Amino acid sequence: MSEEKKTFVVTRFDPDKDEAPRQESYEVPVQPDWKVLDGLNYIKDEIDGTLSHRWSCRMAVCGSCGMMVNGKPSLTCKDPLSSYGDTVEVAPLSNFPVVRDLVIEMDGFMEKFKAVKPWIMTAKEKAVEEGTNRQSPEELEYFKQFSLCINCMLCYSACPVVGNEPEFLGPAAIALGHRYNMDSRDEGQAERNEIFRGEGTVFACSYANECSEVCPKHVDPAAAVNQSKINAVIDWATSFVVPRGQASLSEPQASQDQKTGAK
Ligand code: SF4
Ligand code: FES
Repeated sequence: MSEEKKTFVVTRFDPDKDEAPRQESYEVPVQPDWKVLDGLNYIKDEIDGTLSHRWSCRMAVCGSCGMMVNGKPSLTCKDPLSSYGDTVEVAPLSNFPVVRDLVIEMDGFMEKFKAVKPWIMTAKEKAVEEGTNRQSPEELEYFKQFSLCINCMLCYSACPVVGNEPEFLGPAAIALGHRYNMDSRDEGQAERNEIFRGEGTVFACSYANECSEVCPKHVDPAAAVNQSKINAVIDWATSFVVPRGQASLSEPQASQDQKTGAK
């Protein structure tokens, strides 16, 4: 049986030597069950040890192996090589500065998470003797999908708005903020909605839906952005009925109902 080979065309960039990224080709003998990451690891181990790429868990959990494969953001440890032809082009994720070869600088992406206050906010912390914050399976189900994000950055890389407006919060950060807004234990929706009504946040989204198409965890960040738009408007309209001072950390009834699905 003849061994199958694929040509990997890999973007290389050494900031100490190269003025601009260049491409280098490698012939890789591949196995039928290999993922794209296996091909890159073969290059690193057997052909060219100078190749830099990032990975860790190899099981679609850590989110570190995102790269462009044939022009699309891909989680390379999950992406089967068999779905590509004889040539596989691998490049660093779009919309990020490149550190070296396939490794991107992720600080700006991570920084944006802070803006949506991704933690449980309450008006008054519960005393230990008052017991735990209970949550029903239905209440968990309400935000669970948005909590499955592994920070792989594929959605951010696919987003055309991020490409044009680097200040845009981006789908992952908005989905994270929405996850806390939908959590029955959280009381910070008014504060986050204020952030979501600001410039470069949910209303900057043009609903291209690319983010949800590339998400390997089915978080559906586009749905989170859209729901956040509606909630931010409802919250703004409700503020004319409930004075603003009372709205901070005490949510309008409409917001509470959204978290529990009450009609
Ligand atoms: S929302 Fe999906 S694509 Fe975006 S960072 Fe999270 S897991 Fe990755
Ligand atoms: S190596 Fe961890 S998600 Fe791919």
